[in-house]
Amino acid sequence: MDRNLPIGIFDSGVGGLTVYRALHERLPTERYVYLGDTARVPYGTKSLSTVERYAIENARFLVSRGIKLLVVACNTASALAVPAIRAAVPVPVVGMIGAGARAAVQAAAGSARVGVVATESTVKSGAYSKAIKALAPGTEVYERACPLFVALAEEGWAETEVARVVAEEYLGELRGLNVAALVMGCTHYPILRRVIQEAVGAGVRLIDSGEAAAAAVEALIDREGLRRTATQELRDLREAGAHARHLCDDLDHFYVTDAAERFAHVAERFLGAAPRRLEAVEVWGQDELQPR
Ligand code: DGL
Repeated sequence: MDRNLPIGIFDSGVGGLTVYRALHERLPTERYVYLGDTARVPYGTKSLSTVERYAIENARFLVSRGIKLLVVACNTASALAVPAIRAAVPVPVVGMIGAGARAAVQAAAGSARVGVVATESTVKSGAYSKAIKALAPGTEVYERACPLFVALAEEGWAETEVARVVAEEYLGELRGLNVAALVMGCTHYPILRRVIQEAVGAGVRLIDSGEAAAAAVEALIDREGLRRTATQELRDLREAGAHARHLCDDLDHFYVTDAAERFAHVAERFLGAAPRRLEAVEVWGQDELQPR
């Protein structure tokens, strides 16, 4: 495996940019190839077989571009499709669930109650509950779907009164449950971090599954000897602490399956920068795609 290949990331759409940002912060000298399946978003209400099919097509597309490992940024695809993706592609695959669950168990530090907020399909899968209970068997896991958070984040309404009312409606009941940690198990939810924290109370530790997965990716590339050997060009561009300026720069490549203009617009809202290299592609019906 060529350690200088980029890291592939896919999501159902634009939300996975929060995971891209977390990876970029932790591993600024890596390069990234991102695919947002904007033609088929949302995944969070879809069935297992559909999410598996979409996820495999996305994964194969990214492998055809040449990547050294694949990050499944979409929590729904991580909850439903990681075994199918692993069977379909020849690169290491990192999903959100294991990393998010581990971080929550650590943060809860022996407390019996952990919360998870995610899409309907992620909650229905029970993937986070299973992963948390496998690590800490006595834990009670409270899971709640919060579908309106996705629209609020994309609309740029994360800090509004509307968002506060919605967060209170979804999460107010959590305050009485003595939950020690809450996993934000959906790509978009970190954008609403402030209102989520307000709704659950300051005593609850919020876990960003993307940040947890970025730490898992760093551990994996070090274990497997896959860390990019930074060229001078990369060092100059992405010296430590300067990552924010280099989000979405020419070194990272973004693909979408539809509506590139809207993707760029929401990317700017989420990251403060729009991708410079952004292309619309089709990822379905391309069984002939070969790894580069
Ligand atoms: N990316 C999805 C997730 O993290 C949220 C958006 C969708 O439903 O596709 O689960």
